[in-house]
Amino acid sequence: MDSDEVLASEILGHGAYFCLRRSSDGDVAKAAAAPIHSLAQRLGLRNEFDPGETPPAESIAFLRRQGATPADIDDDAVLQADWVIHVASKRPETITELSAETARLISPAVRVHVLQGVRRPPSYTGAAMTKWAYERQVVQQPGTAMPNAFLVPMSKTAEWWRKDWMERHTYFLPTYDDEGRMRAEGHALTTEAGIACLLRRTYRSATHPAPDGAYDFLTYFECADRDVPTFHQVCAALRDVKRNPEWRFVREGPTWHGRRVASWKELFS
Ligand code: HEM
Repeated sequence: MDSDEVLASEILGHGAYFCLRRSSDGDVAKAAAAPIHSLAQRLGLRNEFDPGETPPAESIAFLRRQGATPADIDDDAVLQADWVIHVASKRPETITELSAETARLISPAVRVHVLQGVRRPPSYTGAAMTKWAYERQVVQQPGTAMPNAFLVPMSKTAEWWRKDWMERHTYFLPTYDDEGRMRAEGHALTTEAGIACLLRRTYRSATHPAPDGAYDFLTYFECADRDVPTFHQVCAALRDVKRNPEWRFVREGPTWHGRRVASWKELFS
């Protein structure tokens, strides 16, 4: 009963964020002219800037830095990233090949740091939560409609991972005192305002807890300009441990804010 073996272990896909940073060596103009577009095409990756009716499973996205905010976990590779590339694929080899080729094409002018994870079925979500939190969520929109991208990598503490899955599950729902008064909203209710306007995507580490130096979760959000305040409000609400006690066990990496652009070249314009 108390074993993680009951949680879904199936891998639905793989994903990575390549954090790219200008270095003092080399010629950035040469990196900007690198044939990343044809590389992505050869690997069968569709551009998420224009996702179409059904967002593609094999995809690539280009994000240009707007800013970044440090948090509990020091991570200069994320905090200082000038650009981020997102890649999603059912085949881990696609990510390996894209990262190796990208690094070969753009170094030494641009350094590449890869954050990678897997997509699994949700752990704590039953039928009602599926309807409530997923079926009415905004799906990916074109970059022109939802230009903001936020990468928020994070881990949970050893204390969290020592809890069995049933106890961990309780943090996603409200809790009540003996008189039936709500004590804390928990993760899901705290974030309700974001369901309709924040696209969300979470990759998990292949093993939990993640190996040293890696994150347990790579969370990512997209939204329209008018909804940026909602993104910040939802994050602030999650961090309020009176409303959401789960966050007592969270250690966040930097929040990186980017702008979705249509192509590799546009990252540099
Ligand atoms: C925008 C509205 C949001 C909704 C409706 C929402 C809802 C949920 C739900 C239902 C789960 C449980 C998934 C499961 O069954 O495994 C979950 C997990 C998670 N959410 Fe959110 N969330 C939102 C925003 C956020 C934000 C802003 C962050 C981070 C800043 C975040 C970070 C996470 C993480 C890391 C997990 C996995 C936790 C774990 O398995 O221990 N969520 N979310």
